[in-house]
Amino acid sequence: MKIFLDSANLEEIEKASKLKVVDGITTNPTLMAKSGANLSMAKLIKKICSLISGLVSVEGVAIKKDEIIKEGKELAKIAKNIVYKIPISEDGLAAAYELEKQGVKTNITLVFSLSQALLAAKVGASFVSPFIGRLEDNGEDGLKLIEEIVSVFNRYQFKSQIIAASVRNVYHVKKAAFLGCHIATVPYKVLTQMYRHFLTDKGLQVFLADWQKIKK
Ligand code: G3P
Repeated sequence: MKIFLDSANLEEIEKASKLKVVDGITTNPTLMAKSGANLSMAKLIKKICSLISGLVSVEGVAIKKDEIIKEGKELAKIAKNIVYKIPISEDGLAAAYELEKQGVKTNITLVFSLSQALLAAKVGASFVSPFIGRLEDNGEDGLKLIEEIVSVFNRYQFKSQIIAASVRNVYHVKKAAFLGCHIATVPYKVLTQMYRHFLTDKGLQVFLADWQKIKK
């Protein structure tokens, strides 16, 4: 499974990039607004794309089909590793179909149901982003949705890759991997939690203490 970092924070992206476990980046307007970088949107996107060799999902604000297509093409010009993230709607699906035909990779986002994911796959979106955490916030089973989408995409051999998004904890990442999800996009905090375990810390303390005994 690939791991993407869900962030527009340059410091986090640089640190994550050095870990050599991150295959790409996903952003959204909220993450861009929180980035803390004093850069224009275009410059921030360009900088993010320069920090990572993998794909970088960037979301716009266009609503109508023609505007979405125009915005997608403009954003795709910023760097060759851009994926254009489109919130699901009738116009968004139609625009994704056209953009994919014209060579712009798309990521259909704000996906909360199997039917939405199915339509994203039907129009040939490169990526589909179901949101685990926000479904759980709403009392629904986000991981069940991942399981359903993985099963249906595999059964019908859809080419769209599933990005488990709105990941809030390590359990979400583990389950997404276990269920056969192609990608999980994780906040920086969750990425660092993935390599930590209290038994590792405890074990290390014992090893270091025992080493001191040997030296005496
Ligand atoms: O990038 C989309 C998604 O990962 C957002 O997550 O935590 O705002 O629901 P969250």
